[in-house]
Amino acid sequence: MSDCDIKDPGLAAQGADRIDWALQEMPVLRGLMDRVAAQRPLAGLRVGACLHVTTETANLMRTLKAAGAAPVLCASNPLSTQDDVAAALVEYDRIPVFAIRGESTEFYYRHIRAVLDHRPAMTMDDGADLITEVHTQRADLIPGMLGGTEETTTGVIRLRAMVDAAALRYPVIAVNDAKTKHFFDNRYGTGQSTLDGIIRATNVLLAGKTFTVVGYGWCGRGIAMRAKGHGAHVIVTEVDPLRALEAGMDGYRVMPLAEAAAQSDFIVTATGDKHVVDESHLRIVKDGCVLANSGHFDVEINVPALEAMAVERRRPRSSVDEYRLDDGRRLRLLAEGRLVNLAAAEGHPSAVMDMSFANQVLSAIHLAAAPTRLENRVYDVPAEIDDEVARLKLAAMGVRIDSLTDAQRHYLSSWQAGTG
Ligand SMILES: NC(=O)c1ccc[n+]([C@@H]2O[C@H](COP(=O)([O-])OP(=O)(O)OC[C@H]3O[C@@H](n4cnc5c(N)ncnc54)[C@H](O)[C@@H]3O)[C@@H](O)[C@H]2O)c1
Repeated sequence: MSDCDIKDPGLAAQGADRIDWALQEMPVLRGLMDRVAAQRPLAGLRVGACLHVTTETANLMRTLKAAGAAPVLCASNPLSTQDDVAAALVEYDRIPVFAIRGESTEFYYRHIRAVLDHRPAMTMDDGADLITEVHTQRADLIPGMLGGTEETTTGVIRLRAMVDAAALRYPVIAVNDAKTKHFFDNRYGTGQSTLDGIIRATNVLLAGKTFTVVGYGWCGRGIAMRAKGHGAHVIVTEVDPLRALEAGMDGYRVMPLAEAAAQSDFIVTATGDKHVVDESHLRIVKDGCVLANSGHFDVEINVPALEAMAVERRRPRSSVDEYRLDDGRRLRLLAEGRLVNLAAAEGHPSAVMDMSFANQVLSAIHLAAAPTRLENRVYDVPAEIDDEVARLKLAAMGVRIDSLTDAQRHYLSSWQAGTG
C-alpha cells in the first residue's frame, strides 16, 4: 500500500502477533466485531482517527472496518506509536496509517493532514488535535461531518472550550466521560501502565521511596494507589480542595509541591495542566529525582526551564534523559516529559481498553444512526451504551450480579414509606 507513512513494513508479522495477543484480552470488542460484521452499521463511512497507535487501537480499527467503515489512522502523540502495529495494519488490514515513532512535530501535523486528505465524515480523537485541525485548516470538511468522538480528559476540556467560544461546528461524543471509560481506563489503566513505564525506563526500586503524584484526578488516584502497592511513601499535591481532602482520607500525605519537591525520589504529573512542575520546583528537587508525566501533553513538566538550567544532558537509558545542574544535582526526566506509560511502556493493558474502545465503536454507531446530524455540542455517551458495556464486560469476566425485585424497584421509586 503506497498511501501510508510508516517506519518499516517488514515489522508487520510481529505487529500482527501482538495485535492478536491483545485481542485475547478484549472480549467485549471481540463480541462487537462479530455483531457489526453481520449488521455493517458503518457501511461506507470514512473515519479519520488520531489515536495512540497501539495493539488495542489496531483492534478498534479492525472493528470499525468490520462494521463497514473505511478508517484512516495517524498518531495522537509523536512518541507513542508502535511501529510494528502500524506496519501490520497497513500490510494485513489495508488500513492507511500515517505514524512513525519519534516523528517530529512537523511530521506529526503532516500525518494529521494526510488523514484529512481522505475526507473523513467522522473524526475519532485522543486529545482533540484532529478536530482542531479540521476547524482551523480544513473547514471545507465540516459540512460532510456526521460527528466526532473524543477519548481523553484533555480533549474533552478543549472541546468544551470550543463550545464556550461558539467555535464547535459539528457534534462530538465525549467517550472519556463514560463511566465505563474513565472509572477504569484513567484509574486502573493509567495506574498500572504509568508504574510499568517508570519501572521499564529506570528499573529503580520503588519500595521505601518517596513518590509524589501531582493531581489526584482519575489518573492520579490510580497512580497513587499502585505506587503505594509497590511500597512507596506516597505524597499527593492538588489545587482542588475536595480532591486534596479525598487524597488525605485515602491515606496519603498532602502538601504543596513546593514542600514535596525537596523530599521526592519520584515526581509524576497527571493534571492536564501546564508547568505544574515549574522552574521554582526544579530548583529544589533533590539529587537523583525521577520526573515523569502521564498527562496528555508534554507541557506538565517545564522541560524548557530544565534544559535552560542544565549544564549537561546525557541519555543513560533509552527513555531517560539525565540533566546535570550547575550545583551538581542530577534530575532524570523520563520520555522527554511525554506520557510515560505510552512512551516508555505499551500504554494501558488491553483489558481496560476493551471497555474504552467498545464505547468508541458504539458511540460511532450512535452518531451514524442519528436520523439527522446532532447539534454542534459535546454529548455524553448515552447511558444505555455505558450500561451495555458494563454488562458485556461482567459477562465476559464470568461475573453475575443480583437484580432488583419488583418490590425493591417500587420502593426505590416511592417517597411515602419512611422508617419501618
Ligand atoms: N497517560 C494516559 O494514558 C492517560 C489516560 C487518561 C487520561 N490521561 C490524561 O491525564 C490527564 C489527567 O486526566 P484525569 O482524567 O485524571 O483528569 P482529572 O480532571 O480527573 O484530574 C486532574 C486533576 O489535576 C488537578 N490539577 C490541575 N492543576 C494542578 C496543579 N497545578 N497542581 C496539582 N493538581 C492540579 C485537578 O485539580 C484535578 O484533580 C489529562 O491530560 C488526560 O487527558 C492520560
